[in-house]
Amino acid sequence: MLMQIAMIQDRIVDYDELDEAYLDRGTYFGDGVYEVLRSYGGKIFLLEKHLERFARSLGEIGIEGVDIDEIREKIITAYNRASIDEAKVYFHITRGIGPRNHGMVGELKPNFFLTVTELGDFRGEKEHGIKVSTYPDLRWKRCDIKSLNLLPNVLARLDAEKKGCVEAILVSDAGEITEGSASAFFAVFASDKNLVTRPLGTEILPSITRKLVVQVAVNAGLTVVEKALTPWQAKQADELFIAVTTKDIVPVVEFDGVKIADGKPGEYTNALMKEINALVFSS
Ligand code: PDD
Repeated sequence: MLMQIAMIQDRIVDYDELDEAYLDRGTYFGDGVYEVLRSYGGKIFLLEKHLERFARSLGEIGIEGVDIDEIREKIITAYNRASIDEAKVYFHITRGIGPRNHGMVGELKPNFFLTVTELGDFRGEKEHGIKVSTYPDLRWKRCDIKSLNLLPNVLARLDAEKKGCVEAILVSDAGEITEGSASAFFAVFASDKNLVTRPLGTEILPSITRKLVVQVAVNAGLTVVEKALTPWQAKQADELFIAVTTKDIVPVVEFDGVKIADGKPGEYTNALMKEINALVFSS
């Protein structure tokens, strides 16, 4: 009789007794979508916005039969159980578990996974700013979907870390900045009081923090201009920053080894941080 097997490190196991997690299409193909949200002071922040984006991502890759109300319940239950004031909530759904075949083998049941962990401390980064370096944007043509396929993002980040940087800024084949490996990207041009960021489209994720920044920009005296910048233009900016759920705004003080203005976080960036902070604690 045939005996189907698997091998985990140096251990041979019966294929039929494999832990299902090994057969997840998320692992084999990155066939799934995810979200990252956070809490501030014991309260989950913008849950509905993340659920909306999650539902859209699921729809765009054709994963059906997921009840978003159930997902909301799971998130709230897990978050309350963890009782971490400043938490990061990660969750994903994959198309399901099955033998490795690009196509579907039978009916699959979407697979849910979630973690609640303590957020890092980013005060140093926010106070002093970070260095970033550019990397080619090697991603696919649907970066508006928050897909589990993150290899190009990971390669970009590893390259940045090797260069002593915190984030990689992705540059398209056309020579324009798209976004960070895991963040939105902004530039401030003080003489025109312009806050520049790339318009939404299939080349970037519709970042929820990006939307918040755009919303509060006027309070900081800035006009939002949605256009793509080249790395050269970014280096001429008065201020740069990245935006992401887990850190909200982080000033960028060095770009590809070039100091931005005086190499310190700028006044507009600090003003935007305060605006976001006010918005968080009024919500
Ligand atoms: N990343 N762009 C990309 C490619 C991202 O992966 C992220 C977030 C953002 C910022 O989106 P938001 O403001 O909605 O967090 C932009 C998450 C945090 C991650 O992958 O861990």
